[in-house]
Amino acid sequence: MTGTPPPQPATASAYDPTAKALHWLTALLVIGMLGLGLWMVGLPISLQKAKVYSWHKWAGITVLALTLLRIVWRHLRPPPSLPGTLTPLDRRLAPWGHAALYALLLAMPLTGWTMSSAAGIPVVWFGVWQLPDLVGKDEALFKALQTTHHILSRLLIAVVVIHIAAVIRHDVLRRDGVLRRMLPFAR
Ligand code: HEM
Ligand code: HEM
Repeated sequence: MTGTPPPQPATASAYDPTAKALHWLTALLVIGMLGLGLWMVGLPISLQKAKVYSWHKWAGITVLALTLLRIVWRHLRPPPSLPGTLTPLDRRLAPWGHAALYALLLAMPLTGWTMSSAAGIPVVWFGVWQLPDLVGKDEALFKALQTTHHILSRLLIAVVVIHIAAVIRHDVLRRDGVLRRMLPFAR
C-alpha cells in the first residue's frame, strides 16, 4: 500500500526518528503541562488565570492528538525488541510501564476536556478551533472530573518519575544502552 511505512526491521536497536520525535515532543509538553497545571490552580481569579487555563487546555488537546498519532505510528512501526541484557523482571515490567504512560496520556486530556464541557466552557484549540462539548453542563460531573483529573495528574507524576528513574538505572548503573534507543541523534 502506498504511503504505509515499512515495518521496523526485527534487528533494529533504536526507535525510528518519528517515534523519537513524538516521544520528546510529548515529554516536553507533558512536563510543561504538569508545571503549568500545578501553578495555575493557585492563581487568583483574573484575566491571566483564564488565559493560562485556555493555554493549558489546548496544549493538553495537542498531547491527546500526538498520543493518538503515536499509537497509530507504533502499530505501523513497532518498537525495537528490548535489549537482551534486560533481566526477566525488567522485560515483564517495561511493557506495563509504557502502557500506564499511554493510558495516562489519553486519560489526562480526556478527563480535562470532559471536565471543561461539564463546566459549560468550550475548549478552543490554539485559540482558533472550538471543539465540540463532550457532555452537557453538569455541576456534579464537573466536580467528579476535577477530582479525577487531580488524582490522575499525581499518578502521572509518579509514573513519569519511575520511568525516568528506570532509564537512569539502566543507563548509569547497568549501562545497557536503553537511553540510546530513544536519543534523537543516536543510531
Ligand atoms: C497531558 C495533558 C494534561 C496534563 C498533564 C494536565 C495536568 C494538570 C494538572 C497537574 C492540573 C492541576 C491539578 C490540581 O492540582 O488540582 C490540571 C488542572 C486542570 N486541567 Fe489539566 N492537564 C492535561 C490536560 C488537560 C486538558 C486537555 C484540559 C481541558 C481541555 C485540562 C483542563 C484542566 C483544568 C480546567 C484544570 C483546573 C481544575 C481546577 O481548577 O481545579 N487539562 N491539569
Ligand atoms: C513526561 C515525560 C515522558 C513521557 C510521558 C514518556 C513516555 C514514554 C513512553 C510512552 C514510552 C514507550 C514508547 C513505546 O515503546 O511506544 C517511552 C519510552 C522511553 N522513554 Fe520516555 N517519557 C517521558 C520522559 C522521558 C525522559 C525524561 C527520558 C530520559 C531520561 C525518557 C526516556 C525513554 C526511553 C529511553 C524510552 C525507550 C525505552 C525502551 O527502549 O524500551 N522518557 N517513554
